Amino acid sequence: PKVLVLHGPNLNRLGKREPEVYGRVTLEQVNDRLQKRGADMGLEVDTFQSNHEGALIDRIHEAEGEYDYLIINPGAYTHYSYALRDALASVGVPAIEVHISNVHQREAFRGVSVTAPVTEGQILGFGPLGYELALQVVKERVKNP
Ligand code: DQA
Repeated sequence: PKVLVLHGPNLNRLGKREPEVYGRVTLEQVNDRLQKRGADMGLEVDTFQSNHEGALIDRIHEAEGEYDYLIINPGAYTHYSYALRDALASVGVPAIEVHISNVHQREAFRGVSVTAPVTEGQILGFGPLGYELALQVVKERVKNP
């Protein structure tokens, strides 16, 4: 099975960006680890990061027929991008939403996700471990659909 992990805007700054909120692990380290953990679980993991809404939307469209699952951290687009939400809804690929921080402990605007309703569920507040937990969900779900 194939999994596409999508990282939205500013996540390329992981490790340098507000480390008190997001930690010191870089995106490259997160992606490397996901690829290794995925391989252990029999999952092929590809990753994609963009700071551009349209690039993320294009990648989601292209995922149809190519991937069995999406894991997505839409970054700030989570809170207002109806276009990203519609892109996720437009493809027949199930998605899991991940946030590194506990968005509910932060500014009120972060407590709203317009994308979550078109995903299977959210994992949030556990740092980069959330992506690995999402991989575990994928592994279980592809075995027992
Ligand atoms: C985030 C939370 C968002 O509110 C923020 O805009 C991000 C990262 C997270 O992973 O905690 O860019 O999605």
